[in-house]
Amino acid sequence: MGRKPDPAKPHSGGAASPRAARRTQPSPVFLGTALFVLGFVSLFTGHIVTDADWSRIRSRWRSKQIRNNEPINIWKSRYSNLYYGCSRRSTNFRSAVPENRSTGYLLIATSGGLNQQRIGITDAVVVARILNATLVVPELDHRSFWKDDSDFSDIFDVDWFISYLSKDVTIVKRIPYEVMMSMDKLPWTMRAPRKSMPDFYVDEVLPILMRRRALQLTKFDYRLTNELDEELQKLRCRVNFHALRFANSIQTLGEKLVHKLRAMGPRYVAVHLRFEPDMLAFSGCYYGGGEKERRELGEIRKRWDTLPELSAEDERNRGKCPLTPQEIGLMLRALGFSNDTYLYVASGEIYGGEETLQPLRDLFPNFYTKELLAGDDLKPFLPFSSQLAAIDFIVCDGSDVFVANNNGNMAKVLAGRRHYLGHKRTIRPNAKKLNSLFQRRNQMGWEIFSRKVKKAQRGLMGEPDDTRPGRDDFHEFPSSCICQRIPVNRSVRAQAGNL
Ligand SMILES: *[C@@H]1O[C@H](CO)[C@@H](O)[C@H](O)[C@H]1NC(C)=O
Ligand SMILES: *[C@@H]1O[C@H](CO)[C@@H](O)[C@H](O)[C@H]1NC(C)=O
Ligand SMILES: *[C@@H]1O[C@H](CO)[C@@H](O)[C@H](O)[C@H]1NC(C)=O
Ligand SMILES: *[C@@H]1O[C@H](CO)[C@@H](O)[C@H](O)[C@H]1NC(C)=O
Repeated sequence: MGRKPDPAKPHSGGAASPRAARRTQPSPVFLGTALFVLGFVSLFTGHIVTDADWSRIRSRWRSKQIRNNEPINIWKSRYSNLYYGCSRRSTNFRSAVPENRSTGYLLIATSGGLNQQRIGITDAVVVARILNATLVVPELDHRSFWKDDSDFSDIFDVDWFISYLSKDVTIVKRIPYEVMMSMDKLPWTMRAPRKSMPDFYVDEVLPILMRRRALQLTKFDYRLTNELDEELQKLRCRVNFHALRFANSIQTLGEKLVHKLRAMGPRYVAVHLRFEPDMLAFSGCYYGGGEKERRELGEIRKRWDTLPELSAEDERNRGKCPLTPQEIGLMLRALGFSNDTYLYVASGEIYGGEETLQPLRDLFPNFYTKELLAGDDLKPFLPFSSQLAAIDFIVCDGSDVFVANNNGNMAKVLAGRRHYLGHKRTIRPNAKKLNSLFQRRNQMGWEIFSRKVKKAQRGLMGEPDDTRPGRDDFHEFPSSCICQRIPVNRSVRAQAGNL
C-alpha cells in the first residue's frame, strides 16, 4: 500500500488536515460529508479510517473552535508529531543522465549571503535535472556585501553533495580538461529572470547549452518558480535538507555549541536578531538614536542607489522594522518564557553593540552567543562571514524554539527546514501588531500586555496549520515534502487486506 497521506492533497485526508480546518468553518453537514468522502476514498486506497482516527479528527475540528482560548505549549506544538518530512524519489523518477549523454555542462554562479546562495544551489540542481545537463559544483559569491572568499568545499561537504544526488543529477567538480580544450569559445553566460518556469530553461537555455557544450547562469538565487511538479519539489527537499551538509570543521563546532547549551539546560530558545547596521539602514527604520543614528544609517543607505525615501514612522506602523533586542525579550517573556530560559542569540555585528543588547540580557540572564560559547575555537572562522553564519545556522537549527526577527533568507530556510523536520517551533514576531503594543506598553499592566502579545502572535507560532501553502515561498514552506502521519489500526488493516 505505502500511500503517504499528504496534507496538500485534498483526497488524502483533506478533512483531516488542520490546515484545511483553518480555512473552513466546520458544520455538521460538512463533517458528515467529510466522513462519507473519507469512507469512499478508503474503498479505493484500502486505507480504513478507524474510530481512533476519526475521534482525533473530530477533536481537532473542535479545537479549532476553542483554539482562540486554548493555551499553547510554548516549547512544542501538540500536533507536530502528526507530520514528517517526506522527500523520497518515486520509483518511476528516471535516473540521472550520465555525463557522456548529458546535454552539456551547467555552470552556476550563486549570489548573496549564505542562505540566499543555498537557495540558488538547491534550484541549480533542479534546473540541471530539467535540462538533462551535468551540473558543475556551483561557484559561491565572493563579491557580495558579506565579502567571503570561501569556496563551496570550504562551506559544504562537496563529496557528500555529489554522491547523495547521484541518482538525480550528475554533478562534477569541474569541466573535464578535454572538453575545455575542445571548446573554441568561453562558456556563454546568461541570467534567468526571477522565478522562471521550466519552459524558460528548456526553450531559452537548452539550445545554447547544447550548441556551446557549457553555459553559465549568473546571479543565481531565486531563479526558479515556486510551482513545480511534486517530484521536482521533492528533489528540492532532497538537495536542501539532505545533500547540503556543512563541511566537517563547521559542523563539528556547531554541534559542540549545541551540546554545550544542552549541558547547561534541558532546552533553549535561539533568536536570529539580525539587528545589524545594514539591515536597519536597508529597512529605513528609526530606533531613537538621534542625529548620530540618522547619520550613520543614512551613510550605509547610500550603498544602494535604488532605495526609496521612506518615512521611518510609516515603516514601523506597517511592521517593516525588525524588533529591537529589548522588544524581542519582552515578547518572549510575555509569551511565557521565564527568566531562567537559555537564550542563544545568532547575529553578526549588533547595531549599538553591548548597549543595545543589555536590556535583552537583563530579561534573560542565561544569554549566549557563538563568541561566548566557542571562545578560541571560533578564531579560524573569524575571517569568513559565511562560515560564521553557518555556525549560527546549526545552533539555531538545533534549538527547541527558533525566533526569526525578519523575513530574510536565513529565517526562510530555517523555517522550512524546521517544518520538514517535524514542525519544531518557529516564532515569527507580528511586528505590526507588536509595535503598536510596545508603544502603549506603559499604559497597561503586565498581565494585559502579556495577553495581548499572545493574541498578536496567534498564527505565527509555528503550528503545523499556521502556514499558508501556495502563498508562501516553497523554501519557507515545502508543502510537497510534508506528509501527515495517520496512525493505522493494524488489526483493522489486516482484515481489510483479507477481503
Ligand atoms: C483496532 O481495531 C480493533 C478491531 O476493530 C479494535 O478492537 C481496537 O480497539 C482498535 N484499536 C484502536 C486503537 O483503535
Ligand atoms: C558513457 O560512459 C559509460 C561509463 O561511465 C560507458 O559505459 C558508456 O558506454 C558511455 N556511453 C557512451 C555513449 O559513450
Ligand atoms: C531529458 O531526458 C529524458 C529521458 O531521456 C527525456 O524524456 C526528456 O525529454 C529530456 N529533456 C530534455 C529537456 O532534453
Ligand atoms: C527570575 O526572577 C525571579 C523573580 O521572579 C528571581 O528571584 C530570580 O533571581 C530570577 N532569575 C534569574 C536567573 O535572574
